[in-house]
Amino acid sequence: MRELALHVLDILENALTAGATRVTLTVHEDTAADMLTISVQDNGCGMDESTVRRVLDPFYTTRTTRHVGLGLPLLAAAAERCNGGVRIESQMGHGTTVTATFQHSHLDRAPLGDMGQSLLAFLLAPRPIDLAYVHRVDVREFAFDTAELRSELGDVPLSHPIVRDWLGAFIAEGETELSHTY
Ligand SMILES: Nc1ncnc2c1ncn2[C@@H]1O[C@H](COP(=O)(O)OP(=O)(O)O)[C@@H](O)[C@H]1O
Ligand SMILES: [Mg+2]
Repeated sequence: MRELALHVLDILENALTAGATRVTLTVHEDTAADMLTISVQDNGCGMDESTVRRVLDPFYTTRTTRHVGLGLPLLAAAAERCNGGVRIESQMGHGTTVTATFQHSHLDRAPLGDMGQSLLAFLLAPRPIDLAYVHRVDVREFAFDTAELRSELGDVPLSHPIVRDWLGAFIAEGETELSHTY
């Protein structure tokens, strides 16, 4: 995939499918260590040990609508190409954490791409789900938590056109600001 944001959307969608109500997404760009780490933690159904071992196999999926599960294997392939990898920690009934690492400066590392688009697509899913997002670039960060937004919005859903547009602009601005030091 040309953008890591598309991999992120895929992993977020896995959390949604797993019945999660809350997801924490952390993107950490550590230029001193030359590392980019993306981690998605959810409180969904989790996986047992044998499933965790199999999910990086491109032919494993519990879906019945499609025969090949590719989200995690594609992410792992992208990370491994960049001297990194994918680690999955999961506990049945508690949740899952997927962590992908990349050599930040690696020539094959795709750009993060349009995070706003991926986050909005995820947040506008039919089932409400809360997202805590932190994007750290060295010592600076952009972060928000939809649980806090929701408590301020009261009954107004995130999908309300005005809220949705505001959220899109808010994320785009936060991301642009972070990228400005390069
Ligand atoms: N966060 C998660 N929680 C529980 N199960 C998961 C999670 N992520 C992935 N899985 C399991 O791993 C399988 C493979 O995931 P993935 O590679 O993204 O392919 P797909 O989503 O197309 O099935 C899923 O079908 C699901 O059974
Ligand atoms: Mg998937």
